[in-house]
Parts: sequence; structure tokens; C-alpha cells
Amino acid sequence: MAVPLFDTSGPLEPLREDLRAAVARVLDSERYILGPEVAAFEAEFADYCGVRNAVGVANGTEALTIALRALGVGPGDEVVVPSFTFYASAEAIPPTGATPVFCDIDPDTYCVTAETVRAALTPRTKAVIAVHLFGNVAPVAQIEALGVPVLEDAAQAAGSTSAEGRPGALGIAATFSFFPSKNLGAFGDGGMITTMDREVAERVRLLRFHGSRDKVSYEQVGYNSRLDEIQAAILRVQLPHLDEFADGRRRAGRHYQEAGLGELVKLPVPVAGASPAWHLYVIGDSQVAKAEAALRAADIGCKAYYRTPVHRQEAMRQWGEGVDLPATEYAAQTHLAIPMSPLLRREQADEVVAALRGEG
Ligand SMILES: Cc1ncc(COP(=O)(O)O)c(C=O)c1O
Repeated sequence: MAVPLFDTSGPLEPLREDLRAAVARVLDSERYILGPEVAAFEAEFADYCGVRNAVGVANGTEALTIALRALGVGPGDEVVVPSFTFYASAEAIPPTGATPVFCDIDPDTYCVTAETVRAALTPRTKAVIAVHLFGNVAPVAQIEALGVPVLEDAAQAAGSTSAEGRPGALGIAATFSFFPSKNLGAFGDGGMITTMDREVAERVRLLRFHGSRDKVSYEQVGYNSRLDEIQAAILRVQLPHLDEFADGRRRAGRHYQEAGLGELVKLPVPVAGASPAWHLYVIGDSQVAKAEAALRAADIGCKAYYRTPVHRQEAMRQWGEGVDLPATEYAAQTHLAIPMSPLLRREQADEVVAALRGEG
């Protein structure tokens, strides 16, 4: 039995009629940019996260750049960011004029910790990007206790929870991606910035719209970075089901545990107090090439997402040279994402485990 790495269409099957109706509603409205669907989705998403403000933008990468600028990050500043993450977490920093400073992770949770962040702090540190990697929830309060503002990169963590609240409500601001394969996925690109701080939200609103309030006078050099009405309408259909999708992802994690996966490889470890809605289910194995070959031979989807950590990517050379991040290097060499979706069944988990046991 083939098991795909993702199943993006299965969970949406029961929502197809509602999704069609939402698209038709936008078509009939003839409002395509910054209209009632975006406004309603912003309010609903803010409510879901437990924050006062949510502002839709074009994607999760621009969400980070815009949020950093709204927090006052600019030339001469440093922003601490993990290197074991999707490239965009760091790529979003240089466009603000600030410098990325790479920090290490906890090899069990794949997230930054107060200790790994502390090692990267300098008097020029203006903010920390805490990535909630793979759906885990980085310890934001502990990092903020160091005295630095935390921007959450929650692109992979919609639906996760923590003892302090949901991603999106933990730091000074947070960013989300609605890339189609994400836990809450649009039918194209989309992103969101959430914050408790009304002034930060206002600066974000200005920056996403050319630095203008009225398209007549321009206060800032901003961006054309907006969430489309059609994507907002599609996301509004899915948001009420996000918790159920998230529960499915947690259940899939339990299927793997009950199938005995932990006897074969290292399982991902939730951060203390977190209940991750696993976006990717990432195992660790010192003989990962063998595991990868066994899964592929059994027609089971798997992928190493970050074999070359961000600080060693060519484009990051000027900021990454000489940086030593042992846990990042180890995770980069040993991680492997295996199938994960809200609908992953126990038989599929058994299939994955059998393949890794060499019985595939
Ligand atoms: C951790 C992380 N940060 C940022 C992004 C950027 O989001 P987008 O692709 O919407 O620009 C992504 C996903 O693609 C991501 O996984």
C-alpha cells in the first residue's frame, strides 16, 4: 500500500460544496482585493488565535519582513533566527536592512530555546524569530524573559497549542503562511500577521498597502502584499475545521507511537506544555539514508527538508561563515519527514513502521 507524504485534498473532500460556494460568492461580489472576505477572515483568525489584531498579507515570507519592519527592525539591527528552518525564516531579514544572526536548536524538539538564543544575543539584537518548526511550539515566554521581543514564525503551526496559548498570541507578533500544503492552506499563496499591539497592527496595515492609508499620500516605502478575497473566502470555509484537522494530525502521531515507531527511530518531542498539530512528522535516524531507501522501496513518501541548514546556503554566506551550530548540523544530517495528514490511518502507520523494520 503506497502512503503519500501529504494528503492535501482528502481533508477538503467534505468541504467541496462549501468551497465552491465561497469562490462563487467572491465572483458574484466583484470585490477581489481587500474586501469583506479578508476583513471577516482577519477577525475570525484573530479570534481563533486569541489576539486582537490579524492582518492578511500575500504570503508567509513577506509577513515576516513586514512584521519585522512594523516592530522597528532596520539597518544596523540584528535579528536572531534558527538555521534549521525553511530558508524564508532568514531570507525575510535582509530586506529590512538588518542582519540575520543564526542560533542553534534543541535537537529533540527542533525548536530554538532560551539557551540557544542567549548564545546569539548582542547589544544590537532587536528581535528574535522563534520558528514553531514542524508544528511544535517554541518556548516564547522563556525567550522573551531574556529581554528581547519575539516574532513567532508560525507558518507551520496553525492548530497547535501551548500552555501559554496558541501560536499567534505568544510573542509581540506572529506570522503565518497559507501555502496550500500548510495546516491551514489556501488555493494559492497567502499569509497573516497577528499581534496584540494595535500600533504594530496599524503599521502592518500601512506597509502591506504601499505605505499608504488612501493611495493618495505615501508615508513609507512599503509593499503590495495583500491576501486575496478569493483566498480569504476559501480559508474561511476551512478555519472552523482547523481544530479537527489538528486533532487528526495528533492522532496520526499517536498511531506511529502505537505502531512501535519509537523502537526504530527518534520520534519528534513536543516542547514542554505544547500540543503540536504536526505539520510534518519528522523522525531522526543516524542511518537515515537506509531508512529513506527502505521507505522509497515500499512506495512510502518521505523527504529530508533541510539537509543543508540555512547558514550554509550560498546566499547567506556573509552571515553564516564561521557559525558553529552542532545541534543544527546533526538534525540536518539525520532528519526525515514521513507521511503525515489529518486522515493518516493506523494501517498506514503500520505500513511505514513495517517498511522501516525491513518488512516492507
Ligand atoms: C517556517 C516557515 N517560514 C516561512 C515560510 C514562508 O511562507 P510562504 O511560503 O507563504 O512565503 C514557510 C513556508 O513556506 C515556512 O515553513
